[in-house]
Amino acid sequence: MKEQLEAIRKCALESIGAAQDTAALEGGRVGCRGGGGERSGMLKRVGEVSPEERPAMGQLANAVRADLEQALEQRGRELDAQALEQRLKDEALDITIPGKRVKLGRRHPMYIALDEIKEIFISMGFTVLDGPEVELAEYNFDKLNAPEGHPSRDWSDTFYFDSDSRVMLRSQTSPMQVRAMETMELPIRIIAPGRVYRKDEVDATHSPMFHQVEGMVIDKGVTMADLKGTLNTVVEMLYGKGTKTRFRPHHFPFTEPSCEMDVQCHKCGGVGCPTCKGEGWIELLGAGMIHPKVLQMSGIDPEVYSGWAFGIGLERTAMRRFKIADLRLIFENDVRFLEQF
Ligand code: DAH
Repeated sequence: MKEQLEAIRKCALESIGAAQDTAALEGGRVGCRGGGGERSGMLKRVGEVSPEERPAMGQLANAVRADLEQALEQRGRELDAQALEQRLKDEALDITIPGKRVKLGRRHPMYIALDEIKEIFISMGFTVLDGPEVELAEYNFDKLNAPEGHPSRDWSDTFYFDSDSRVMLRSQTSPMQVRAMETMELPIRIIAPGRVYRKDEVDATHSPMFHQVEGMVIDKGVTMADLKGTLNTVVEMLYGKGTKTRFRPHHFPFTEPSCEMDVQCHKCGGVGCPTCKGEGWIELLGAGMIHPKVLQMSGIDPEVYSGWAFGIGLERTAMRRFKIADLRLIFENDVRFLEQF
């Protein structure tokens, strides 16, 4: 009996000492005490020995049990400390390693130009509208007084989705005039920036996708003087006080009369230089008084209301503003280019 208890003590102390983690420690607890070595087993066995031996055996069994508990507790503490040590090592942070620099993006030059334009018109009480790029020919052409057969509707210029030429990628932002007239209360003052599409080959000044900003005012008693006064003010806000402009007659189907507006070349002051191709003036936008038929087609009485409109190319505005020579730079997203703004 005594030998058995001593054997249990030895085996258990060994396995406790050898345990490399808490799981193994638990294993050792069960392993050695099992097979007749459990505490209850030990005490039961004490009951089996002769009455003379019983007190001594009972004492021994208690002592073995106390030894094992103590060894378990101690090894447990050691293993916990080891595990903590290891975790501190594994999870150590070297706060002296330099951090990774986050590269900040910038606003695209074209959007800088657009934001300036928006700001100016918002300050004048205009609302900014957004509209579909996939448009009905009805809005892009018919209701803008460019009926079937009009040269601007040609397949060679326009991206159509169907063989009937009814659905298309808008070729101008002008259909937003119609959408505004159909949905908004009068009087109307809006600008509508967005993408437009034409079947153009890519070169330094052309792209099949580019941006325009449409503008429109409709109210009672609106005249060409309002058009000129407003656009001259806008140009002075964009290019500085005293910037000279000129209006040339032109033709657009949806305006009558129609005009183009030029600004005096900022480079040469109107004398003529490579920037303005010797002209002294740079073409800025198309504009005009909204054609009475256009008002009528959208349900506005041209006898009561009149209006003016304009369309401006955004890339060209940005190119002039930042002296960018090639349109392609605006779309290529080369960081070396974009970082300059
Ligand atoms: N939509 C014309 C174009 O793409 C530009 C334009 C001219 C817009 C005159 C207008 C306008 O609103 O009145 O060439």
